[in-house]
Amino acid sequence: MTEPPPGRCWLDGRWLPLAQARVSVLDRGFLFGDGVYEVIPVYGGRPLRLEQHLDRLEASLGHIRLANPLPRARWRELLAEAVHEGGGGDLALYLQVTRGPAPRRDHAFPAEPRPTVLVLPSPLADAGALRARGAVVVTLPDIRWRWCHVKAITLLANVLARQQAAELGADEALLVRDGLVSEGSASNVFVVADGVVRTPPKGEHMLPGITRDLVLELLREAGLPCREEPLPAARLAGAEEIWISSSTRELLPVVRLDGRPVGDGRPGPLFARAWALYDAYREAVRRGEAG
Ligand code: PDD
Repeated sequence: MTEPPPGRCWLDGRWLPLAQARVSVLDRGFLFGDGVYEVIPVYGGRPLRLEQHLDRLEASLGHIRLANPLPRARWRELLAEAVHEGGGGDLALYLQVTRGPAPRRDHAFPAEPRPTVLVLPSPLADAGALRARGAVVVTLPDIRWRWCHVKAITLLANVLARQQAAELGADEALLVRDGLVSEGSASNVFVVADGVVRTPPKGEHMLPGITRDLVLELLREAGLPCREEPLPAARLAGAEEIWISSSTRELLPVVRLDGRPVGDGRPGPLFARAWALYDAYREAVRRGEAG
């Protein structure tokens, strides 16, 4: 018999063992992928950029026309409980809101949605080894819908891209739409060309990553040149450096792209500077000096 999953989650108003957590088969998250989510990193028991994550949740809920089931103060309280449940330390807090169970399967919204709310703390996996070796990526067509700025749980295209990448021996897929790189299957992308850090501007084609914003902020504060501009896929091959960012993998250097080395095939000098800034920020969060 497989071991029951350890830990507890918050589901519809209470904390309960994961093994006992159940959602209705009529839940619209299950039937339609009708819901949104967030992943919030926690360092030393303190969330990073909590308000920005809650703002993005609010925006995602707005796009799918679902009222936020909890006031901001309750989210803060609940996430503090999740940190406690997770034992403090370094965690990833997963939260998900779906349009909840409906009386029958019907694409149109139920008259009175009863959203399902899940909060699930887990240990934050250490990406240190991957950071040291550098990530391997492949480019794949971006077959997703147009609203990639919504952090929807409807992730089938992302799942297929990541699986295809894994089968090609890669850690991430960079997605290309109309000749432009939008982002990774679960990350944002940065490219260094002519000594300038470049990342696609926000828009419907990508998720406005909280990590991306923080990296840009730290680079700008340090006086490093960066630009938000469309990223032609054709530019990737000649890039000096490529990086990817996400809440769970933080910032990673890419050392191989489509089977060829990026730069000299090792994490680049600008990556080293960016990572030092990010790492220092994490430490400040741990000490309670940054959020
Ligand atoms: N994904 N783009 C996509 C498609 C993502 O799924 C993610 C994060 C990001 C980076 O966003 P942020 O820096 O706010 O984590 C960009 C999370 C980690 C996930 O799905 O597990």
